[in-house]
Amino acid sequence: MDEKVLEKYREAGKIAAKARDFGKGLIKEGTSYKKVVDKTEAKIRELGGEPAFPVNLSINDIGAHDTADVKDERTIKRGLVKLDVGVHVSGYIGDTAATVSVDSDKGDMIKASEDALERALEMMKPGTRVSDVSSEIEKTIKDAGYNPIRNLTGHGLEKFNLHAKIEFPNVETGTDYKLEEGDVFALEPFATDGAGKVKDSERTLIYMWEKDVGVRSREGRKILNMAKKDFHKLPFAKRWLTQKVSMLRLNMALGQLTERNGLHEYPVLREVDGGDISQVEHTVIVKEKPEITTKL
Ligand code: CO
Repeated sequence: MDEKVLEKYREAGKIAAKARDFGKGLIKEGTSYKKVVDKTEAKIRELGGEPAFPVNLSINDIGAHDTADVKDERTIKRGLVKLDVGVHVSGYIGDTAATVSVDSDKGDMIKASEDALERALEMMKPGTRVSDVSSEIEKTIKDAGYNPIRNLTGHGLEKFNLHAKIEFPNVETGTDYKLEEGDVFALEPFATDGAGKVKDSERTLIYMWEKDVGVRSREGRKILNMAKKDFHKLPFAKRWLTQKVSMLRLNMALGQLTERNGLHEYPVLREVDGGDISQVEHTVIVKEKPEITTKL
């Protein structure tokens, strides 16, 4: 990997780690979603990065893709609170997540994800088969008495691309890809006491540019342009649009754009059996001694 590129990955990873730890410190029963995500995103910028996606705040049986809405009265309640933070520096990404137990009696579920992640990270060397890492994650979580979530995966990272290369499953799926020196992956084992699967819910708060399409409304054109230029085709939050787009027309414009596949939707994901979910995540560069960019 080019030395300049490596430095950018390191910088993005360090900022993501600092913002993650800062955000964790804000997680208390009764604190608003809005406060946690706004402050964590502000911290990313203060440290010299840009969010690579909206800060995700997903509680209990919500697995991912929850964040604050435009107006959002929700506050943090007891349970397993997951904070997922993505940062890019000139397009190079650090992606990391942690779970905080807010008076939950399910803290050992967090340990199951952490143990799975630790073991997986050690294996991220050139020549390792992805399926061998996946089965280690699966085994570690199952041995702890939980189920890995089979339709939430880690993912490859490339410049301005959050879903590069291949998916990195948390269960053995026979993925034959052999890791190569310099590959960058975000690994994120999810554990649950439910069935081990998530499904889309009704709510969508996060979107991403998919393709240029014609839309009648001025707001629609403006949003698509922002998705491409301001957000670099990376995921963005509905609440990020309100400074430039009239609130009254926001929902209609987003509806038109998703209907025509100009935007991709990321619905809030919920465990199919209502099980609670824990998640931890780090970004790692594949080497003889794997380099974890999001550990401080
Ligand atoms: Co990720």
